[in-house]
Amino acid sequence: MTGGPAREDALALRGIVKSYGSTRALRGVDLTLQPGAIQALIGPNGSGKSTLVKCLAGDLRPDRGEVLLGGVGRPGFASPTQARSAGVSVVHQDPECFEELSVADNIVIARPPRRGVGPWSVRDRAATVAVASRVLRRVGADIDPRERLRNLSLADRTLVAICRAIVEDVRFLVLDEPTAALGRDDAERVYRVCHAVREAGAGVLVVTHRLHEVVTHASRVTALRDGAIHADLSAESSSVEELVGLVADARSGRKEVVGVSPRDRAVVVSTHELDGDGYEGPVDVQLRAGEVTTVAGLPGSGANHFVRQLCGVAARARGEVRISHPDAQGAMGFVGESRRDEGVFPDMSVLDNMVIAAIDGPSWLPIRRRRLDARARQVAEQLGIVTASLDAPISSLSGGNQQKALIGRWVVADISVLGLEEPTNGLDVGAREDVYRAVGDLVGANKAVVARCTDEQEAAQLGDVILVFTEGRLVASLPGDATPGAVLEVSTPIVTHRRGMNES
Ligand SMILES: Nc1ncnc2c1ncn2[C@@H]1O[C@H](COP(=O)(O)OP(=O)(O)OP(=O)(O)O)[C@@H](O)[C@H]1O
Ligand SMILES: [Mg+2]
Repeated sequence: MTGGPAREDALALRGIVKSYGSTRALRGVDLTLQPGAIQALIGPNGSGKSTLVKCLAGDLRPDRGEVLLGGVGRPGFASPTQARSAGVSVVHQDPECFEELSVADNIVIARPPRRGVGPWSVRDRAATVAVASRVLRRVGADIDPRERLRNLSLADRTLVAICRAIVEDVRFLVLDEPTAALGRDDAERVYRVCHAVREAGAGVLVVTHRLHEVVTHASRVTALRDGAIHADLSAESSSVEELVGLVADARSGRKEVVGVSPRDRAVVVSTHELDGDGYEGPVDVQLRAGEVTTVAGLPGSGANHFVRQLCGVAARARGEVRISHPDAQGAMGFVGESRRDEGVFPDMSVLDNMVIAAIDGPSWLPIRRRRLDARARQVAEQLGIVTASLDAPISSLSGGNQQKALIGRWVVADISVLGLEEPTNGLDVGAREDVYRAVGDLVGANKAVVARCTDEQEAAQLGDVILVFTEGRLVASLPGDATPGAVLEVSTPIVTHRRGMNES
């Protein structure tokens, strides 16, 4: 049993078993959430964390086992609504949101305020905005409740999803990788909410791959591996290194970097007086074959706008992006930060998702298709994609494995330039290494890679060149041996600088 004996007011899972077809995602899991505490759930990609969360949320019925709340046992909640009315509120890994509705409507969606009585009651718009504003303030999010959701960044959408989960009183708040898409400040906001919820006497379960968050904020930590509890310990007395050990050594026999050809460092993409929404140009930079260029900067720094314009996925206001790839094989690939909105084709197989960018012209010819499939299988293995079958729909993969498949898509397509946004979001520490190695293989094969990395650690580790944006300007181009500390230093706005910007 984990988390100590189940108190009357605890939320407990007992012997939960859940399979998807032949995949046994949970093999008899016991977990107890105590009120007034923050508990972390960690584990490699595909270890069953989200499945467990879905069982708590009433989205999935366990095959066996029971969910206990207030001393009452049941074979799982029958629906999310039932879980919610029992006080269990969940934010899923890729939270569903209503693009065309306002932020406020998204927040109150479960129970929109009304005025008037009975059949004559109508939606109360003013109350909707007031309720939403209050909860946004609680989270510390500077978001206009009247804004259409589709105009929000992924980070802001995450905060809205959290607001939706706490708009009514909760007894247990469950967050599945809430900080994966967030920068440091927004992640801190999320944990401030967790602590406030805890102080109000509710229990919190946070799923995360960012292990420093666990030691900083949680009191207990449970590690899953292959659908079973692998460890359950006090988070306060654990170190990040110990937790890495719990998550990382789960897999063995990973591939080493394949033969690296000499890099020719020819310029493949260059920007000419690029200038756009979200940052001030002109920006003139060059991406070179055989090099990773990372673009660092806090949210709001302009780094994301720049990378999207550079990769041609957002319109630019002025200037030009010139592509000159000597080997002329394909052009650019792009893996955006939102897998769900601009990445996966959810109902297509993993294999189809991986070959789709390589399909051109006569690719329907069986022989070419067979070759592509074989290549995709090879790439899937190099990346360590965990799935029962590559013919299964990609939506059946865990979040981290979907991310690997998306990167694999462009390896299969053999593009010259790959753009990445937050390439390791939602990846466990081992998988992160797999992705770094995949990026290494790409530049080793003379491709150019540009990656937006909010995390300075990642920006420094991955980049041969590190471009740093601060407050809407490109402020530095650092060499690859720059330390994370150096990246952070130039990316942190200084007050005098800010004052200067406002005056102008
Ligand atoms: N809808 C589904 N159909 C079939 N198999 C599934 C489905 N959802 C998950 N699985 C499988 O169940 C296992 C557990 O997946 P789960 O999403 O719970 O992992 P996770 O620990 O949340 O991983 P991640 O850290 O990558 O989000 C994986 O093997 C996954 O492929
Ligand atoms: Mg998950």
